[in-house]
Amino acid sequence: MIMSIIDSHGRKINYLRLSVTDRCNMRCRYCMPQDGIPKLEHNNILSYEQLYRLSQAAVSLGIEKIRVTGGEPLVRKGIVDFLAQLSELPGLKQLVMTTNGLQLPEMAADLKRSGVQRLNISLDTLRPEVFRSITRRDGLNRVLAGIAAAEEVGLPIKLNMVVMRGVNDAELVDFAAMTLENKISVRFIEYMPAIKEEGWQSLVMPGEDILARIAEQYPFSPVISGELDGPARVYKVAGAQGTIGVITALSGHFCADCNRIRITASGKVRSCLFANDEFDLTQVLADGDNAAIQAVLRKLVAIKPAMHAMNEQEAQHTAFTMAQIGG
Ligand code: 5AD
Ligand code: SF4
Repeated sequence: MIMSIIDSHGRKINYLRLSVTDRCNMRCRYCMPQDGIPKLEHNNILSYEQLYRLSQAAVSLGIEKIRVTGGEPLVRKGIVDFLAQLSELPGLKQLVMTTNGLQLPEMAADLKRSGVQRLNISLDTLRPEVFRSITRRDGLNRVLAGIAAAEEVGLPIKLNMVVMRGVNDAELVDFAAMTLENKISVRFIEYMPAIKEEGWQSLVMPGEDILARIAEQYPFSPVISGELDGPARVYKVAGAQGTIGVITALSGHFCADCNRIRITASGKVRSCLFANDEFDLTQVLADGDNAAIQAVLRKLVAIKPAMHAMNEQEAQHTAFTMAQIGG
């Protein structure tokens, strides 16, 4: 019997983010320090078999949507076969993935065949020099080709733009314009001080300011979002094919609707991106049965905090890289 799991703040937890690797072929400035991070050894990351058993236990507890993340999930060998296996998991309603898009030109067709239903593609700019300064890599053209490849094979896509004042905020309107003619969703994500770089406060652009900037050019109205859609507030520009949305991770309207838990590549479960407490699942995955894995997940949901303690000025969490946790 499929259950549903409610946390101690009354939120239904139905969404699991599964990081399959901490490795990445980019070095985004908001995600990693310039020199990267020490890589996990291969035997310290969960095997596909373990990831599958974990997903099975999560789904039997009431998880209905799994997002495969990284690092960059497409750099892990065997990922397409794993996704194909996951997509057959009874009870799982949605299997989606977040990718930086670099490998999509070659992999989009295989991903479509694997049963992945949707892709979130990270794209913060349409300008090559800004792309280079954010990701510390070249590759804008490959990502754009990847987006085209995904569209061609019929994979619905969402673009995730992390908005940084003075870095890419001049392009907000250009991104909104992409939704006019195409059935693309664009999500504007408030920059979060994950790695707590020097002077991060000046990069924060609150969701209200993001929306106000877009509204000057393109008036929009709210769209009702579904139960599995998570904390984005979604809008549609008048007459547009696609939607725009804002994820106000920092300024609020976010934690109250949080429906997710996260698994890191090394097998830690986290109840909140910004909570320092996590449980290690490796032991229970080595010698426990489904019920034992479920018990750890329940314990985790029970301690899920009501909200994080960050705001536009202060961040109390221990610095981390998104690549380790999966964003
Ligand atoms: N702030 C906001 N979003 C972030 N992401 C990663 N790091 C940050 C950050 N510091 C998001 C990006 C990327 C996804 C993998 O995680 O949207 O697309
Ligand atoms: Fe890689 Fe994504 Fe982190 Fe960028 S944000 S370095 S693409 S994991």
